[in-house]
Amino acid sequence: MRTVSVIKADVGSNAGHLRPTPELVAAVEDVLADEGAFLDDYFVFTVGDDVDIVMSHTRGEDDDEVHRLAWDAFEAGTEVAKEQGLYGAGQDLLEDAFAGNVRGLGPGVCELTFEEREAEPFLVFGADKTEPGAFNQPLYTAFADPRYTTGLLLKDTIHEGFTFQVMDLEHTDDGERRIQLDVPEDGWDLTALLMEPHRFGIEKIYSRATGAEVAAVSTQKLRNVAGEYVGKDDPVALVRTQADFPSPGEVLQPYATPPFVAGAMRGSHHGVFYPIESGAGEIPSYFDGPPLVKAIGMVLNDGEFSEPVYPFDASFWDSVREDAATRFREFRERQGAFGPGTVETSELEYGGWTDIMASLEDRWTVASEQSPSATDD
Ligand code: F6R
Ligand code: MG
Ligand code: MG
Repeated sequence: MRTVSVIKADVGSNAGHLRPTPELVAAVEDVLADEGAFLDDYFVFTVGDDVDIVMSHTRGEDDDEVHRLAWDAFEAGTEVAKEQGLYGAGQDLLEDAFAGNVRGLGPGVCELTFEEREAEPFLVFGADKTEPGAFNQPLYTAFADPRYTTGLLLKDTIHEGFTFQVMDLEHTDDGERRIQLDVPEDGWDLTALLMEPHRFGIEKIYSRATGAEVAAVSTQKLRNVAGEYVGKDDPVALVRTQADFPSPGEVLQPYATPPFVAGAMRGSHHGVFYPIESGAGEIPSYFDGPPLVKAIGMVLNDGEFSEPVYPFDASFWDSVREDAATRFREFRERQGAFGPGTVETSELEYGGWTDIMASLEDRWTVASEQSPSATDD
């Protein structure tokens, strides 16, 4: 069986939380080149301030050596970040030492295991300045909504539907909770869960026709790991495409009407999930946002990755970006801090607001304590 693992971390970046330097990325790649002989292939990319490592191997999921390799690579990146004085050096490496698996140590991870098809096309998504639940709506649309994925109506194996494995993201410390729901039968219940993206995130999607794993999303919430704010989760996702699965176009289509997701500035606002052009378009430069999503398409060929294709570089997406930027600015500048401009107070990633509330506690007056003259006025 083939496993593709994506492991990501923010270990420091140039000019604030914007982008790692080429030297930092090279240090990560050097470790993979030196110590990754047991991999069949690897590929490193960045999105915003995150470094994402994609690895192809036959060691299965949660493999000690694969996870250790990624950890070592991020430690090497951290060294460079420190040498160069980059911001947030080693930010997502929350423990001093590797302990068998990167889950729970800070980095985000998603993995898919499957029998490699004769041709094995897939998409990797990397996001910055947002949370795992940001993928809820696009994946739901691609795998469960026949108004968009007409393959659900036109192709027998896709018509059999999919099983969504959803994780309760607030129960990662005291025992993880998962549920499996089948579409179409459980579609409304699935929608009910996914409408709460801070709490419930898609972890895996399986084909009901073949039982195969089709999609995976990293579901680690840094806040649950660290117990305090250390950065937004900035999730990654993998989606196998074509034949018995939705086509790349069906998987990408939902990003043309991008939802508002939690993230952007201080991980505490709502912003448009913005499909980026590779290169200069990857920098979160307006209000530490918008929340960015990068898509990379490849095929596996006996375990090796092809040259990457960047679908959002196509000129079609220019008008999507223009529209998304307008909507984000309009919303952000109209709304400011008020109402849905920020996330609900329980989801704020910084503690400042809670401190203000505590500091005001003694200054409230209640009607029964007010003097008669004050109430007479
Ligand atoms: C969001 C993010 C940034 C920072 C912001 C302030 O995930 O990383 O928006 O929260 O730039 O950063 P600090 O508090 O490090 O100055
Ligand atoms: Mg960051
Ligand atoms: Mg980031």
